[in-house]
Amino acid sequence: MLEETSIPYLVTPLPGPKAQAMVARSEQAVTPSLPRAYPLVVKRAQGVVVEDVDGNLFLDCAAGIAVCATGHCHSSVVQAIREQSSRLIHICGADFYDTQYTELAERLGRLAPGPASKKVFLGNSGAEAVEAALKLARYHTGRTEVVAFFGAFHGRTMGAVSLTASSPKYKRGFRPLVPGITHVPYAYCYRCRYNLSHPTCNLACVDYIEEELFARSIAPEEVAAIFVEPVLGEGGYVVPPPGWLSKLRALCDKYGILLVADEVQSGLGRTGKMWAVEHWAVEPDILCSAKALASGMPVSAMIARAEVMSWPSGAHGSTYGGNPVCCAAAQATLDVIEGEGLLENATGVGSQLLGNLSQLAQESRLIGDVRGLGLMIGIELVLDKETKARAEREANLVVQECFKRGLLLLPCGPNNVRFSPPLILTEQQASTAFQIFAAALAHVEHGG
Ligand SMILES: Cc1ncc(COP(=O)(O)O)c(C=O)c1O
Repeated sequence: MLEETSIPYLVTPLPGPKAQAMVARSEQAVTPSLPRAYPLVVKRAQGVVVEDVDGNLFLDCAAGIAVCATGHCHSSVVQAIREQSSRLIHICGADFYDTQYTELAERLGRLAPGPASKKVFLGNSGAEAVEAALKLARYHTGRTEVVAFFGAFHGRTMGAVSLTASSPKYKRGFRPLVPGITHVPYAYCYRCRYNLSHPTCNLACVDYIEEELFARSIAPEEVAAIFVEPVLGEGGYVVPPPGWLSKLRALCDKYGILLVADEVQSGLGRTGKMWAVEHWAVEPDILCSAKALASGMPVSAMIARAEVMSWPSGAHGSTYGGNPVCCAAAQATLDVIEGEGLLENATGVGSQLLGNLSQLAQESRLIGDVRGLGLMIGIELVLDKETKARAEREANLVVQECFKRGLLLLPCGPNNVRFSPPLILTEQQASTAFQIFAAALAHVEHGG
């Protein structure tokens, strides 16, 4: 059994010999397109502890990219998977009426903001939920154009990657992409594109959409949807200012545009609320969910008000989407999130971690900004606090140094480090994670 009190516990300098051997094999056999943060080769994991093939124990504050909200291998989730897989593994919810699919759809329909009468499409990945939302938005409105944001990451399938604008590497060599998508600046106050400050800016970044884009380029009556991450994920864990999402909602209402909230990363308690949109009391027309939904089993959801889910039989579906085992894991995951107080824990432990990191920012040469909600916390590293020149190399080095010290983190955006731990993280574990992060940062600051 993995001992929580012993983490991190390193028995070899990293990467260990078995890990190195597996990395070499992987390089021969596996597509080189996978980005790989560092040479971690996992043997097993429990809660917030990950054990690698060499017997090293790590404190996991990456959670498989914000997926393992309930911790690794939560006993209730494991039991649900065991029970369901011994009854039925697959039947195809697209062709038959699967009980698990229907019950999860009912629950997600109730859980998502807005009226209870919603309908749900289940897919296998975040990108599939986004892809479905893009198709539905065009189908339902009969309009072709879509607005998304610079910094956004919506996935890697052709539609989702066309909505993505967090790095050119996601699109390079893959054009032509899906047409009709225009990107506008996100409410990234630390780097405001208009050199304004909130609140005196009066949220000029939303006005830009109406006064420049709609007035000069794309008639709003041609716009099917605005896709938005309520908190920017891969683009740098950016929390928009108060009022921004509501103003976006009002803009959509004015022109009959659908507001699509991509909560693939920010949803299911990550920010301390079930959905990040709840921080601003905004109801999207379509909500996309995945990642944490089944604690690592592949299932995603595209949830829309019943009248919006207006496409006919055969318009969209998936062979595996809403697989019964994944649905059972999702039900168990939602039970844990609701029943074990994970929202409250994310809020409490998140505020402790945010406080510690903000304090560290005062003393640190490299930390330009610390921001977050709940346990979705980003640290932006800069070479100079005045010019805000991005410390890209340093952000990557900090992540590597944390790994070497037994803390799993991931970068996001070109120069940010993110904390996206399991939502079961304790105060004690958050304190250990913070201390390792501070030591790694100091090492990098001193030219290590
Ligand atoms: C906000 C957001 N949307 C969509 C996706 C795509 O999800 P997936 O990798 O499961 O396709 C991601 C993945 O990181 C994401 O963060």
